[in-house]
Amino acid sequence: MAMTDDWLYPLWIAHRGAGKLAPENTLAAFRIGAAHGYRAFECDVKLSADGVPFLLHDATLQRTTPERGTAGERSWSELSRLDAGGWHSRAFAGEPIPSLEAIAAYVLRNGFALNIEIKPTPGQELETGRVAAREAARLWAASRHAPVAPPLLSSFRPESLQGARETAPELPRALLLDTLWNGWFDIARALDVRACITNHALMDAALIAQLHGAGLRALVYTVNDPAEAQRLLALGIDGIITDAVDRFAPGDSLRD
Ligand code: G3P
Ligand code: MG
Repeated sequence: MAMTDDWLYPLWIAHRGAGKLAPENTLAAFRIGAAHGYRAFECDVKLSADGVPFLLHDATLQRTTPERGTAGERSWSELSRLDAGGWHSRAFAGEPIPSLEAIAAYVLRNGFALNIEIKPTPGQELETGRVAAREAARLWAASRHAPVAPPLLSSFRPESLQGARETAPELPRALLLDTLWNGWFDIARALDVRACITNHALMDAALIAQLHGAGLRALVYTVNDPAEAQRLLALGIDGIITDAVDRFAPGDSLRD
């Protein structure tokens, strides 16, 4: 199957907003990533108890907020009042957890691309995929006439991608792979994904050839080492998710 030419995502994608330079998955992180020249961002999205998609990596609150326990058991009203920046450094104290809607407003206003990683609270895989995709479709539809890429919906969980497909089949999907588990390629095809995003250590010439041969894009996470970036660029990688937004300038081509 030939690859279509409507892949609109920049090569370099800032991980969780700005990697480790700011509290992950906050608007402050996105602003720092953008200040370093990034035009595409990855973030992690799950659901509050009342069904609001919001940004948080972990299932629990303790690493990145003063609270403990399962984030998905709290209402959005509670979550939106937590300090998601003070754990990182004093400069970011009081930085809130953003809703997907707040981040969408920022990236759409700036013409940036967003990779929404659907990161469900365990047990909520299907529902998180359904709601995140429905909400993403609604938010991006509001800026239909702007020249922006649609949100790329990715997940390690096939059920979440299935949920996304049910509610917003038109939005592009990507399967995340930390290992090449049995049956991954057939599942990727069955879910009609546009890309696979693998742990960078898994990606080699044979895997890129397999993906490209099937009409799929090949992306990797999380690349912070220049030699590894150079290896992947030489192979013809289609996207690199990085924490090192201060080391890799997305305007500079390392391909030369
Ligand atoms: O989306 C790629 C990458 O973010 C997956 O790993 O744990 O950082 O969400 P993680
Ligand atoms: Mg992620």
